[in-house]
Amino acid sequence: MARIKYIAGNWKMNKLSGEAVALAQGIVKEAGNFDCKIMIAPPFTALCEVGKVVKGTNVLLGAQNMSNKVSGAYTGEVSPEMLKDLGVSVVILGHSERRGYYGETDEFINSKIKLALEQGLDVILCVGETLAQREAGKAADVVTSQVQNGLKDISECALEHITIAYEPVWAIGTGKTATAQDADAIHKVIREKLASLYSADAAEKMIIQYGGSMKPENAAGLLAMPNIDGGLIGGAALKADSFVALLKCTK
Ligand code: PGA
Repeated sequence: MARIKYIAGNWKMNKLSGEAVALAQGIVKEAGNFDCKIMIAPPFTALCEVGKVVKGTNVLLGAQNMSNKVSGAYTGEVSPEMLKDLGVSVVILGHSERRGYYGETDEFINSKIKLALEQGLDVILCVGETLAQREAGKAADVVTSQVQNGLKDISECALEHITIAYEPVWAIGTGKTATAQDADAIHKVIREKLASLYSADAAEKMIIQYGGSMKPENAAGLLAMPNIDGGLIGGAALKADSFVALLKCTK
């Protein structure tokens, strides 16, 4: 079974709302020419305006984070319902910047994933090892335990709403990309883990994106690998022409 390619832009803490609208318009103008799955995740402050631009197009609106609570006295948090209200259908959870800078644990990420699914949102679960973990030969162990703990108590039928993004921390925003072979090896390990946690069929169906300095120059090589089904892209998603060039690499 051929898995669809999925290209997602994580804009991180970039773009004021006017800039975000212009970027989204540039992407939407071209996106209709591609049959891959496409998502853009602007900062919270631009979701409303970008939501209007992508409405009715083949570009999905994503959020970069979400509260693990439904509503109430949680100062500074954004609930799943608030996101859905703006047209968000996908949420990125467990990004290494959330894990590393804000102390998000697997358990906390798992609580957010469960809530997102309950509330009808799709999820991109990010996993990845640090440079020290890779050098210690622990990359596969770290990543498989993030997958297992992140998906704790999540049923096989819910997996169709989940995408996994393998993002080696040492490759994010550094210009260092994992080689296509190294990345594919970890994607394969993730798929094997899914097969043991769920079933061979579930593992085969899972879309696993690569993230970490993916750009038009290296994307075709990565996307040609058997276990790499797309990309979660930061820096190269901040300009319409480079994002569209990445979409072209899926063809
Ligand atoms: P990068 O970021 O493409 O800038 O390395 C990817 C990500 O963190 O999602």
